[in-house]
Amino acid sequence: MAFPNSVRLVEVGPRDGLQNEPEPIQTATKLELIDRLGAAGLAHIEAASFVSPKWVPQMADHREVMQGLKRREGIVYSALTPNLKGLEAALECGVEEVAVFGAASESFSQKNINCSVAESLARFAPVLERAKEANVRVRGYVSCVLGCPYEGEIAPAKVAEVSKALYAMGCYEISLGDTIGTGTPLKAKRMLEAVAKDVPMAQLAAHFHDTYGQALANLYAVLEEGVAVIDSSVAGLGGCPYAKGASGNVASEDVVYLLQGLGIDTGIDLDKLADTGSWITQAIGRPNRSKVGVALAAQ
Ligand code: HMG
Ligand code: MG
Repeated sequence: MAFPNSVRLVEVGPRDGLQNEPEPIQTATKLELIDRLGAAGLAHIEAASFVSPKWVPQMADHREVMQGLKRREGIVYSALTPNLKGLEAALECGVEEVAVFGAASESFSQKNINCSVAESLARFAPVLERAKEANVRVRGYVSCVLGCPYEGEIAPAKVAEVSKALYAMGCYEISLGDTIGTGTPLKAKRMLEAVAKDVPMAQLAAHFHDTYGQALANLYAVLEEGVAVIDSSVAGLGGCPYAKGASGNVASEDVVYLLQGLGIDTGIDLDKLADTGSWITQAIGRPNRSKVGVALAAQ
């Protein structure tokens, strides 16, 4: 057991947290959220998603968000780009990092991006090439690493296979998504061990949704294995539109509190982050799903 000395948080609230909201959220509210997160010390913020507005209407203002950012020194503002069309639009908006997103489940791949896993990898290859030309880093997501809403159990070997392919293609980091939050700690460790045979641990991130309340336990388990990058969402906002019943990511406030307790550095101001969680949940009329956020707000 060797915990990392520091952990990098990737804040996905403005994207994963908001993408499933049925009522349109004002671009100005999204921009204020991103700015507040930056002020709280989040150094990597997934700001937008250049996907089809027919598929995810809430992300239709991706250009306005990307171009409206009040950029802060030292912060990476990234965006999802499922194909070349999305990448070209993101590049026009001055993006410095993008992410492609695949899955370890055939059915989820079809539902989420309308193609097979093999087709998705073939589609990502030119995205990676074009991004490299433009000097833009690419992150790779793998969904359904601990279970699929359509197929149930997913073999760790399948997760490893897709992760390896994305890494070989040039993704600098592979984010392992427990999309529906069904994972438990030993399962998470076994999955990670399988992937880490093909992709260095330093290049792996944990992206755990908290649908079954297991995300913090799962994170503790993978921290023990050496994972040092965690995706989270302020106030635990979110859900995937193509994974019915999936609730938000693990709350950023809860992750920061856990890491502080373990003596692991994050560079994040927990009070400012918790204030941001209270503010955004009030602004969009959602419950605050961060236990730490609720506890701090009650003080
Ligand atoms: P498709 O229908 O197969 O694409 O969708 P197409 O190439 O046939 O194009 C159809 C229409 O979409 C055309 O417009 C295109 O121009 C347009 P039309 O001629 O009908 O007016 N189009 C686009 N518009 C804007 N931006 C684009 C784009 N591409 C095509 N980039 C596609 C394929 C991938 C586009 C679609 O399936 C899609 O947008 N899917 C996105 C689904 C999504 O965003 N899901 C949530 C994010 S993933 C997630 O949350 C999981 C994650 O958090 C990790 C985890 O938790 O596991 C990352
Ligand atoms: Mg997600």
